[in-house]
Amino acid sequence: MKEYITKLKKDNDAIILAHYYVDKEVQDVADYIGDSFYLAKVAKETDAKKIIFAGVEFMGESAKILNPGKRVFMPDASADCPMAHMVTEKEIKEKREQYDDLAVVCYINSTADIKTLSDVCVTSANAVKIVKNLPNKNIFFIPDQNLGDYVRRQVPEKNVMTNDGFCPRHHIMTKEDVLAAKDRHPGAKVAVHPECKQEVREEADYIGSTSGIIKYVLDTDAEEFIIGTVDGVFPCIEEQAPNKKLFKVMEEQVCPNMKKVTLEKIVDVLENETNEVFLDDEFIKKALSPLEKMLELAK
Ligand code: 13P
Ligand code: SF4
Repeated sequence: MKEYITKLKKDNDAIILAHYYVDKEVQDVADYIGDSFYLAKVAKETDAKKIIFAGVEFMGESAKILNPGKRVFMPDASADCPMAHMVTEKEIKEKREQYDDLAVVCYINSTADIKTLSDVCVTSANAVKIVKNLPNKNIFFIPDQNLGDYVRRQVPEKNVMTNDGFCPRHHIMTKEDVLAAKDRHPGAKVAVHPECKQEVREEADYIGSTSGIIKYVLDTDAEEFIIGTVDGVFPCIEEQAPNKKLFKVMEEQVCPNMKKVTLEKIVDVLENETNEVFLDDEFIKKALSPLEKMLELAK
């Protein structure tokens, strides 16, 4: 299957981008594996004709918006991030009416519709830096209340307001889960994603994006780590540092939508050009501005 996909990629002038949360066998056929920020940059810069995005809908949409001349395909058209839909146009409008200098800061885990209404996009890898560097005092951070709260604490000089969106996978973890994991593995370092609640973050030695967590584990002189994010990051660490022992906060740490991406579905999009991402040109122009601003401000 792997060899066949390599041949199909070549025949189609296609590249596969895979988020760390997809299955290891899918990561193994990818040309680029990374966090949302890295993959957005790769999507913008690639010369390949086709991009196969092994991830969820907002990632494929962002790739198409950043590089509209390329054809973007999703192995599973139903793979979507529930948090992307957890903010409404009405909430944004109301906040804009309340504050003259408001910056709407939109986590990339959002629909393309919501991006068109936002001033700048961020990912978990650059949210703090970008909010810090915006001239605006009043910030409406959407749709993740937890990443928003993390940013608020890192940038206390700003008025960071959030709505009530969340990632079901990360939001479900509790302080008790982390304490129980620490009891099971005393001495282990704890690294969590900022999509976790504050009660979880405050128990962590490190808080960061998926690539940040991987780097932290690889660079830290310890043998055992408790990881508070989807366990798709494990294989990448295990390959580079087989001596490190990785443990989960909870028994199940999977993103069911990322799991929908399979090798069979990748073959299908490569053979049959199914599940192409189509967005209207005018719409692309509107959604491009906050994404380009992110790339600029994150430099
Ligand atoms: P990263 O930006 O850290 O890759 O996270 C994406 C995501 O969906 C986290 O749940
Ligand atoms: Fe969305 Fe959460 Fe899955 Fe990330 S882990 S894609 S935020 S549901």
